[in-house]
Amino acid sequence: MTLAEHNTPSGHNAGNNKTAVVTGASTGIGEATVKALVSAGWKVFAVARRADRLDALGAATGAVPFRADITADDDVAALLAAVTEAGGADTLINIAGGARGADTIANADTEDWDWMYQVNVLGTMKITRAFLPMLRANGEGTVLNLTSTAGLSAYEGGAGYNAAKFAQHAMTNALRLEEVGNNVRVIEVAPGLVQTEEFALNRLGDKDAAAKVYAGVEKPLTAEDVAGVVAYSVSLPHHINLDQIVIRPVAQAANHKLVRKEG
Ligand SMILES: NC(=O)c1ccc[n+]([C@@H]2O[C@H](COP(=O)([O-])OP(=O)(O)OC[C@H]3O[C@@H](n4cnc5c(N)ncnc54)[C@H](OP(=O)(O)O)[C@@H]3O)[C@@H](O)[C@H]2O)c1
Repeated sequence: MTLAEHNTPSGHNAGNNKTAVVTGASTGIGEATVKALVSAGWKVFAVARRADRLDALGAATGAVPFRADITADDDVAALLAAVTEAGGADTLINIAGGARGADTIANADTEDWDWMYQVNVLGTMKITRAFLPMLRANGEGTVLNLTSTAGLSAYEGGAGYNAAKFAQHAMTNALRLEEVGNNVRVIEVAPGLVQTEEFALNRLGDKDAAAKVYAGVEKPLTAEDVAGVVAYSVSLPHHINLDQIVIRPVAQAANHKLVRKEG
């Protein structure tokens, strides 16, 4: 049984009339979130750029696949139109994002920084801006932003990702203040080390370097661990706002304090 199935508050289970748009759904935390929500009775629109993976997820779960690049205005408009046509959504879960590179600022790669800012910050802004009228009109809207502990404290070699995730964290706080009068709930989930298939590979560029990120860590978080917490927080009765959830593996007391067993 997953955390979401175990903990989903009663009255919010199968056939619950809740509908979510989940970005970053083609792999990792987003894909696991789609599965957790569908199994808890949600209708889910699964959004990412790789249509083949979304189609497979849709076929396996019943989620509605929608190919979109969240940084592209036309794609965001097409997604909004499709969700509107299908009856709307009450919950937007912004998971698409990621890191590129681990350079110091002295060696910063402009393209990496640009990519991280585009996806984590501008992409999150564009899709949120597009969906806010729908969420307000629903009367009980929710936005959940998947940030990171990299958005709460900086580390050497993290500056580009830190800057993007600190920005996403700040946007989340501003949004909560701006939308309170519209009864839109705004949740931040900030994970530490999560072992997903692609995150470290995309960041560092090769399998060996990616494997070293998790080397010796007995139990890093899994995508399913984080998805369970995401699904739980959006399934609580709407008047309960978990403003910010920081979730780390026990082996990681802080970004710089990670216990690795000798191999
Ligand atoms: N793994 C970790 O240790 C960790 C820790 C804390 C926070 N996070 C954050 O959690 C989120 C998910 O992490 P993850 O490990 O699951 O990452 P991941 O495996 O790299 O997945 C990233 C997802 O974002 C999608 N995406 C990327 N650019 C996109 C774009 N322009 N438009 C639409 N979708 C886009 C990707 O799909 P396509 O390539 O198909 O578009 C993919 O589904 C990210 O925001 C990440 O920063 C991760």
